[in-house]
Amino acid sequence: MKKKVFSVLLAAAMLAGCSNGGASTPSAAPADEVKTYKVGVSIYDFNDNFMTLYRNEIEAYFKTLETDDVKYEITMSDGKNDMGEQSNQVDNFITQGMDVIILNLVQTSSADALIDKIVAADIPLVLINREPLAYDENNNTIDEAYEGIINNPTVCYVGADARQSGTFQGEIVAELPDHGDINGDGKVSYIMIEGDPENIDAQYRTEFSIKALTDAGIEVECLDDQIGNWKQENGQTITANALSQFGDKVEVVFCNNDAMALGAYAAIEAAGRKVGEDIYLLGVDALEECVQKVNEGTMTGTVLNDHIGQSHTAVDVAIKALNGEPLDNYYWVDYVKVTK
Ligand code: BGC
Repeated sequence: MKKKVFSVLLAAAMLAGCSNGGASTPSAAPADEVKTYKVGVSIYDFNDNFMTLYRNEIEAYFKTLETDDVKYEITMSDGKNDMGEQSNQVDNFITQGMDVIILNLVQTSSADALIDKIVAADIPLVLINREPLAYDENNNTIDEAYEGIINNPTVCYVGADARQSGTFQGEIVAELPDHGDINGDGKVSYIMIEGDPENIDAQYRTEFSIKALTDAGIEVECLDDQIGNWKQENGQTITANALSQFGDKVEVVFCNNDAMALGAYAAIEAAGRKVGEDIYLLGVDALEECVQKVNEGTMTGTVLNDHIGQSHTAVDVAIKALNGEPLDNYYWVDYVKVTK
């Protein structure tokens, strides 16, 4: 990126120099010419509720930043939850000469391949929502300083620390008058509905929601832990099955996101259970429907996954890159607890 920006600056300096002698170089742009930047955005799946809010806000916010002289031409592509499809989109972005790329990876395990080709094409890259991490297989630990990000000054990540969202979910339960132990048997019996297990958001929310309970000295019992891949219909099926298998034993339904919590709610209602009375339900994202449910008491709580803050940061950072300003490796946006 730097090279590209520098070459633009160099060209501008040369033009300025030329203008002393003869201003009519064919390539000399009039001073008031509109500059249009080409922005390639690829979202992992247009069907994702949260990423739909996020991508709409990317477009809307870019529009608000346009001036008479600077315009942003956004190409928004649907990765269709297919890594091959997304990889082709990135190839097209490169061929089309995008000035910056914003990428919500289908699979973080493919980050390197995509980062490498984007860096080789000299295009700055803002990764969003799905944080690539390196795994140290020897120690079975996660390396949070991802080489593709820290070693490339034109690549950065904008996101939220999913540990915080998990912790907030657990704290919401711990702060209830009965601390989640509805039947008073001394432990919180829960089911966990996970997002795509490849995403660190799913891993951390699963781990840290329960850690917040045990850190508060609360005993827990996991009745069931299933993968719902972030999808509402899966949240519904998993909850329906768990409720028919474990019945009243289920005290808390933890969902890694709100879409799955909406599905879980439908199953809870169909089973004749009542949130806030004989069961608790938690999500993450703070989708409008879920905030409404929290307010009316049909969801126990959710956690705001600030798509406005994240999309605006991603766009601001993309513009910094377009202006040739140095980028940080990581930009973090806080989660916020949402309870009644
Ligand atoms: C959101 C989910 C979304 C996922 C997509 C998460 O941060 O909470 O709702 O499905 O990102 O990667």
